[in-house]
Amino acid sequence: MVSKRLLFVFSAILVLAMALAGCAATPAAAPTGGEAAPATEGEAAAGGGQLEVFSWWTSGGEAAALQALFDAYAAQYPDVEIVNATVAGGGGSAARGVLQTRLAGGDVPDTWQVHPGFELIGQYVDPGYVASVTDLYESEGWNDVVPEALRNMMTQDGEIYQVTVGVHRGNGFWYNKKLLDANGVTVGDTMTADEFIAIADQLKAAGVTPLCVGDNGIWATAQLFENTLLGTIGPEAYLGLWDGSVSFDDPGVKQAMETYGKMLDYQNEDHSALSWDQAIKKLMEGGCAFSSMGDWAYGEFVNAQQKDMEDFGWVSHPGTAGSFMIVADGFPIGNGSKNPENARNWLKVLGSKEAQEAFNPLKGSICARTDCDRAKFGMYHNWSMDSFANDALVPSVVHGSAAPADFQQALNDAVTSFVVDRNVDAFAAALVAGAQMSGFGQ
Ligand code: GAL
Repeated sequence: MVSKRLLFVFSAILVLAMALAGCAATPAAAPTGGEAAPATEGEAAAGGGQLEVFSWWTSGGEAAALQALFDAYAAQYPDVEIVNATVAGGGGSAARGVLQTRLAGGDVPDTWQVHPGFELIGQYVDPGYVASVTDLYESEGWNDVVPEALRNMMTQDGEIYQVTVGVHRGNGFWYNKKLLDANGVTVGDTMTADEFIAIADQLKAAGVTPLCVGDNGIWATAQLFENTLLGTIGPEAYLGLWDGSVSFDDPGVKQAMETYGKMLDYQNEDHSALSWDQAIKKLMEGGCAFSSMGDWAYGEFVNAQQKDMEDFGWVSHPGTAGSFMIVADGFPIGNGSKNPENARNWLKVLGSKEAQEAFNPLKGSICARTDCDRAKFGMYHNWSMDSFANDALVPSVVHGSAAPADFQQALNDAVTSFVVDRNVDAFAAALVAGAQMSGFGQ
């Protein structure tokens, strides 16, 4: 069953690439959605009460973007009190556990942050924690503006369970221009791992920390590995890991592990004391030259008034030019939550063009709708939209889309050991075992 779902997720991603390639080039088509459905009794009655929104959006950029969604909601539903229930910890590393405890105990938030694919289906749909929102896609006209393949990643047995508000690119590599200029380093449009290592050696010799990592949550260094893996073996083999055609002890995977180990030698000494956004802050302050991070990092630059990136730059994580690591964010309606009508209206707002055009410029992600106005987005976003339209789309393990939660945990555990022992064979063996346990792999 897991393998079947894996194949389904990947075929969905491939179709998504094609669908969005066409749409990104032709923005601003007005939604042609069907007729508005008559308000249900619940909607008519919704005039107050609370809306509890559970997420891990606590960094400066994340909080600002979340606030834009709250503002959009409050403009339409001023009498509803929004309860901002956040659990800090990038990637949802702490939030997901808290949420599972709450759900198991029947304390269901009205709505919560979720990644489509395995995370949505395996952790929330299968146990019955979320309600179908299929009818909203019809009444709001979203079937015309949300690509079918993206809808498929949120669908189980013909019912759709999530509204996606934005799509992040997970394989960003951000840098401090002034620091590189001062050290005579020029970065081109792309960078290979060998190029990075040469630059990093030069910087290290000059007393500059080459790489900022903030892995007080293990996911951040797991993501450094995930990006390095993609950059080393390429998108086709990376996808092969999830359908079992490529093994985790493949020589290419082991080479990626070696390169990841080298990258760790260039990281800041205080990496395990910092969060991902503190690492980006350190980069902005000149405490290091580069940081590998999804483009929620761009939200931190925007939040620090660096929207135009005059002093900073980005390329794809070394070796990953031509690939887009998908990290999408959305929200469902909690089954049995206290305020389902308010949650339903929250999803209506999130699915709208206006809310997505307000949220994504602050968050770093691009719209999940195909009709957002490119003119409302800056240079980084337009670059990312082009990448999404043209590049190989691959799902992230670290952010819940590529593999079941068990494997995500196995990766975190294997990385935790590797950063200490640097044992490539043991790392590979742990991932092979994890893949087998999760029902895929050789
Ligand atoms: C991802 C999420 C992003 C961002 C990031 C860091 O899992 O999709 O929206 O919040 O974690 O917290």
